[in-house]
Amino acid sequence: MRYGHFDDQRREYVITRPDTPLPWMNYLGCEFYFGIISNTAGGYSFYRDARLRRLTRYRYNNAPFDSGGRYLYLRDNDTGEFWSPSWQPTRTKLDKYECRHGLGYTIIRSSCKKIEAQTSYFVPLGETLEIWKFRVTNRRKKPVKLSVFSSIEFCLWDAQDDATNFQRNFNTGQVEVVDGVIYHKTEYRERRNHFAYFACSKKLAGFDTQRDTFLGAYRSWDNPAAVARGKSFNSIAHGWAPHGSHHVKVNLKPRETKEIIFVLGYHENPADRKFNRPDSQTINKKTVRPIIAKYLDGRNVDAAFESLRRYWDGLLGIYQVRSPDIHANRIVNIWNAYQCMATFNLSRSASFYESGIGRGLGFRDSNQDLLGFVHMVPARARERILDLAATQLQSGGAFHQYQPLTKRGNHNLGSNFNDDPHWLILGVAAYLKETGDWKILDEPVPFENAPGSEQPLYEHLRRSFNYTLERLGPHGLPLIGRADWNDCLNLNCFSNTPGQSFQTTTNKDGKVAESVFIAGLFVRAGKELAVIARKRGQGEDAERCLAEIAKMETVIYQHGWDGEWFVRAYDDFGRPVGSKICDEGKIFIESQGMCVMAGIGLQDGKAKLSLNSVNKHLATRHGIVLQQPAYSKYYLHLGEISSYPPGYKENAGVFCHNNPWIIIAETMVGNGNRAFDYYMRINPSAREKIGEIHRCEPYVFAQMIAGKDAPTHGEAKNSWLTGTAAWTYFTVTQWILGIRTDYDGLRVDPVIPAKWKRFTVTRRFRGNTYVIKVKNPKGKQRGVKKLLVDGKEIAGNVLPVCPPRSDPIRVEAVLEG
Ligand code: GLC
Ligand code: GLC
Repeated sequence: MRYGHFDDQRREYVITRPDTPLPWMNYLGCEFYFGIISNTAGGYSFYRDARLRRLTRYRYNNAPFDSGGRYLYLRDNDTGEFWSPSWQPTRTKLDKYECRHGLGYTIIRSSCKKIEAQTSYFVPLGETLEIWKFRVTNRRKKPVKLSVFSSIEFCLWDAQDDATNFQRNFNTGQVEVVDGVIYHKTEYRERRNHFAYFACSKKLAGFDTQRDTFLGAYRSWDNPAAVARGKSFNSIAHGWAPHGSHHVKVNLKPRETKEIIFVLGYHENPADRKFNRPDSQTINKKTVRPIIAKYLDGRNVDAAFESLRRYWDGLLGIYQVRSPDIHANRIVNIWNAYQCMATFNLSRSASFYESGIGRGLGFRDSNQDLLGFVHMVPARARERILDLAATQLQSGGAFHQYQPLTKRGNHNLGSNFNDDPHWLILGVAAYLKETGDWKILDEPVPFENAPGSEQPLYEHLRRSFNYTLERLGPHGLPLIGRADWNDCLNLNCFSNTPGQSFQTTTNKDGKVAESVFIAGLFVRAGKELAVIARKRGQGEDAERCLAEIAKMETVIYQHGWDGEWFVRAYDDFGRPVGSKICDEGKIFIESQGMCVMAGIGLQDGKAKLSLNSVNKHLATRHGIVLQQPAYSKYYLHLGEISSYPPGYKENAGVFCHNNPWIIIAETMVGNGNRAFDYYMRINPSAREKIGEIHRCEPYVFAQMIAGKDAPTHGEAKNSWLTGTAAWTYFTVTQWILGIRTDYDGLRVDPVIPAKWKRFTVTRRFRGNTYVIKVKNPKGKQRGVKKLLVDGKEIAGNVLPVCPPRSDPIRVEAVLEG
């Protein structure tokens, strides 16, 4: 069942009924001001940090699931009837409804009682505000007298404190209303020099700023007292819950349309010029007034909207494909790239599943996210890499997370996730391949942000690699520490106490439990480091790296191979995890994906054997599950993985993030049919037709789809902010379509379904645009036999870097395999 459809031309997803199974959301903003917005205008906004500078209040895990948002009410002043043009919160039946989620904007249109309404929500580039452009049209035969009410609830800045510290918060709320603009200034009187404002382009009939006056006692947003009676109370908030509501009267002749612009924004004043006069307590509005005036003018709003469109056209234009598959095309060309930018901007902070008050930026997560956006914003990727590296420890280890505002390692979580350091090598490698900016390796970068400890970035990579060598276990495999990529495989935790964190509780000395996954990652990252070292003229480093990798490969063959697949780990008793001798959890996805991606077993058939075992034991029609059999009970020695009921999350859910590893592995063994088939099982557009099972948005990937052991097999959760975004994007663009960045050029190595006859990729790379036509006349799955550049055949399959020119470089590749 579908709840809407794609409009690929306009790069929008069009939701055609408001009661989607879950709120289907979009992001507003891509720089410093952000909002999440659902298809019924739910959600909230914040400046930079979703926890510390929350502008509007939102209550998670509510009923209805999504309540609180950017609401408008329309009221017919003759009959007293009122409704929400975005359906929520009144949920009045609408005669027409349509929500268009686009790139950085959302437009909700509806019609009710022959009154049409349309609201466009977006954040102009370069600004710290959002615009709601509202248009209302009378389709009746008679004139109509309407009232429009806006409604937002202000958050008292720190979202965590806002939701808990009521003994204080019920007393601190303060606002000002001047010239029709509502200013929210709680705590401005003391240590803050920032405030929020909510402005409206039309003359007000009234306003409200005290929530409980606007709503009335024992009433809610579906029936606010001010709207019901058709008149604001002009309330001023003193404590309790500051709120923003404008009341505008609109009279419309038949077929007449009127436009109202609302601007919700965040503003900072210089600390010494906060107040009108030093002895006053009123906000100095001199610097904010011109901004408000600018965006209450429709022409400026339209121009800002156009710039936003051009911004996204520019970013998405860097990689565009035309293939025989519509789901691949639209997800690659539009939505997956867009989702990668969301993970870049927001990491794992704010979605309908991430409450915005939780974690900082993950070291592992952020490095992997790079794979998905480095081609779109290379300069910002560079900055991100240097920020990440600056949190690294002298030992080469990494703080598992850092705080984006301070850019410092998070001491509460600490370190010892022993896979972490290697992701830095892979992130830097991806950056170098995209940009050719070798100078980054010489950038002085501190350890733990300590001044004076600076070493070239290259030295950070060496220490990442060495970190593992200094932490080998009884079999010669890397010790796992608190966890590796799988946060929930906690082999040193042994926690019996409810509520204890599985990630930070350590009851074992950590000298026994080992990870075959890290061994594979070590080999893969080490191979990149060896190339980087050699290209930098550090041949000795390269030799040493390769020698250590060779040793590790031998150990993997000896202790990491189970006969038909790779073992996952060894527990604290030295017993295998993910082996046929285990009762449950006999085979895991991660070690199959990572070891094959590292090139292990490609020569002797073990890679294929491992992938066939994945196909046999782990693949389902909804994606590849994490392990089998699922853990049916809690195992003290395995930790959080066995805390989840079977089929969910890391306990045998389809953890979409690592499905691409298997897909890349399949491309490495030349299996284009299977690689694409796996990709389609999790591709959200391909799952659109089973919307009632999938339930999440059909335009973005979710972190997890319930596995076959779950009663809700096929149901997705935790959409948007997941490493799945970057990995799927990287996999389909670079390994299936096979237009792969490399240190010295652009490799053309597609591994595609045999039935594809041709496809074309347009790729901007190091100053040039390549238009690459791939032909597959013989129905092969892999093997470029002929490569023509501007009509001339070249040897090999790497397009060399060349001086930038204005017209595109025309490339033709023929698969003969
Ligand atoms: C979450 C975490 C990620 C981890 C994964 C598997 O997605 O953000 O760091 O690798 O879960 O546990
Ligand atoms: C939980 C989640 C996992 C996540 C971890 C760290 O364990 O299941 O996916 O990576 O928390 O936040």
